[in-house]
Amino acid sequence: MALVNTKNMLEKAFDNNYAIGAFNINNMEIIQAVATAAKKNNSAVIMQVSKSALAYANPKYLKAMVDAAVSDTNLDIALHLDHGPDIETVQLAIDSGFTSVMFDGSHFDYEINVQKTKEVVELAHAKNITVEAELGKLAGVEDEVNVSAENATYTDPDQAVDFVSRTGIDSLAVAIGTSHGAYKFKGEAKLDFPRLKTITKKLEAAGFKKFPIVLHGASSVDASSVAICNEYGGKLDGAKGVPNEMLREAAALSVCKINMDTDLRLAMTAAIRKFFALNPEKFDPRGYLGDARKMIEDIVDNKIKNVLGSTNSM
Ligand code: G3H
Ligand code: 13P
Ligand code: ZN
Repeated sequence: MALVNTKNMLEKAFDNNYAIGAFNINNMEIIQAVATAAKKNNSAVIMQVSKSALAYANPKYLKAMVDAAVSDTNLDIALHLDHGPDIETVQLAIDSGFTSVMFDGSHFDYEINVQKTKEVVELAHAKNITVEAELGKLAGVEDEVNVSAENATYTDPDQAVDFVSRTGIDSLAVAIGTSHGAYKFKGEAKLDFPRLKTITKKLEAAGFKKFPIVLHGASSVDASSVAICNEYGGKLDGAKGVPNEMLREAAALSVCKINMDTDLRLAMTAAIRKFFALNPEKFDPRGYLGDARKMIEDIVDNKIKNVLGSTNSM
């Protein structure tokens, strides 16, 4: 067993109306938690690394630990660069043995995004590495209350077709109402499912059948993690994520990869806050990091089993 790219796992996800979880990793405990939860469910999984995680943990360490997860679990695991901001970071991921990369040119003018994404596709495809790119900007909490600003940043379906056909990417991250972090919605959670369906319909009409869509900013911001954080000294008032039912709906449609980082961060923080509050005399890191690892494992296990639907995708 070796690391795989995301091609087959996303194809299977599309065909069977589930989504593969893409979990951000930063250290050994997170990697082990994600690997153990995926193994429990016999599920393929994506471990993804942001530019700041590369700087924090060193790609050599991350690659070696994810290789260990593959040999320990025998699962299909993809090691993916999350939000690659420039060609240099993409090149670093490729040179470090990543099997999939995201180039995020969504903040550039459209033509520049097309041009740079194409360049990344040429680099990556030469090494059998899959490429995700983004079109439209994920709404911030402020944008959410302003309809015209919201429309201005959501993915345009016609532009999505043009983007996919001109760049040759393998999957497309869209903006349909999610946002990164723990404060996604001021009022009711709302995703633009009609827009998602239109994007996929137009892609199909243009010859891109079963094209995998990626949902970023998809943490559900579990009320129980937030409550534990707040009970033990945290201050996370008004935190709100994407309801699990909406993620399930997206997974049953064309969304094949669902990104979660905040949920893992909250679980880890909740476990550690609680451990320190209840055990002021203890100082062995294996105590609090062990609790953190278990809480992340439980969150990921529940996501795979009850939300993403990727159980037995191997
Ligand atoms: O989408 C962003 C991810 O949550 C990674 O965040 O750059 O703080 O590692 P980070
Ligand atoms: P969350 O902040 O909702 O976990 O989103 C993570 C993400 O999209 C990583 O690319
Ligand atoms: Zn993201």
